[in-house]
Amino acid sequence: MPKFLPYGKQWVDDEDIAAVIKVLKGDFLTTGPTVDAFEQSLSQYTGAKFVTAVNSGTSALHVMYFAAGLSAGDEIITAPMTFAATANAALYLGAKVKFVDVQADTGNINPSLIEAAITDKTKLIVPIDFTGHPADYDEINAIAEKHGITVVADAAHSLGASYKGRQVGTLAAATELSFHPVKPVTTAEGGAIVSNDSAIDKRSKVFRTHGITRNPEEMQVNEGAWWYEMQHLGFNYRITDVQCALGLNQMHKLAAFIARRQAIAQFYTDAFADVPELILPVQRDYVASGWHLYVIRVAENPERRKALFDRLRELGLGVQVHYIPVHYHPYYQNLGFKRGQFPLAEDYYARAISLPIFPRMTDDDVASVIERVKQAVKEVL
Ligand SMILES: Cc1ncc(COP(=O)(O)O)c(C=O)c1O
Repeated sequence: MPKFLPYGKQWVDDEDIAAVIKVLKGDFLTTGPTVDAFEQSLSQYTGAKFVTAVNSGTSALHVMYFAAGLSAGDEIITAPMTFAATANAALYLGAKVKFVDVQADTGNINPSLIEAAITDKTKLIVPIDFTGHPADYDEINAIAEKHGITVVADAAHSLGASYKGRQVGTLAAATELSFHPVKPVTTAEGGAIVSNDSAIDKRSKVFRTHGITRNPEEMQVNEGAWWYEMQHLGFNYRITDVQCALGLNQMHKLAAFIARRQAIAQFYTDAFADVPELILPVQRDYVASGWHLYVIRVAENPERRKALFDRLRELGLGVQVHYIPVHYHPYYQNLGFKRGQFPLAEDYYARAISLPIFPRMTDDDVASVIERVKQAVKEVL
């Protein structure tokens, strides 16, 4: 049986482990200097001034939406080709989700469909950098500006990617990152809100810790050195110094991780160029994707996708499908969404299979994936 290869996997080395142990032996397990250092390294890498690190990408979305001013009765516009968290975090705040369909080739939100979805309640547009490929920010930001709406990015897949020479983290008013193990760098669980907006950052840091402020200048009264004030209904979304020790050390390797992902994607794209049964992922010429995912699609008969998926699993590939469109989930169907509403996202989903892509894959691993995919295509399609 050939080696099992998952669709994504972390790369934690002895240096990462030593960094974690050092923090475990130190004075601060949480809310300490390693959280600050991790935030600084994210700021340096992305070029964004402010970073608030939190305990998951999902909490980062919740914090970011709050910090950008989303509240009950407001609406966000996003795409259904994403993990449910992108939409769920708006519901946490009592807001409503409006989906618009995607571009057929990238799976990213289609800017030309956004304006029709804008109402006087629209507060945020939330593009997702699906698979690590940044969305079309210039078009999206222009629409938002015209209507006085804020763009905040779900960049859970795309730390380390760039768009027209600009780093992810500086493309929207605020950007959410995830550090789940399959993501560009990991803290086991973790996330961050990155921005150049000091007001968004202030609100993020308050929301991360129960809505509490300890800044005397922001307090309504001050009864002494012990005094703090809870001014918003926040949460405990703090990330630990232990996690940030891992994240900080991983950041030293981010550029190399991304370069390796890009090389693997190129191997696949070259190898499958002569397989007409497959639609391959695209990369716009003004984008350097982070290649979080490499999604192939079945060209002719989407109804054969399941057979191809099952055969690839039998052959030892931990393939996945990204994503079940969010509006397919029963919870969203109960909110009134229906199958058929977003045909391009639905078509993308019906054909999609995510192949293994992660930095630790060897050239032999990549060759073996190519061989197994070609074999399965021949057998099944
Ligand atoms: C597009 C997208 N947004 C948000 C999230 C949520 O991140 P986390 O798992 O860190 O909560 C994920 C995680 O898979 C994701 O893929």
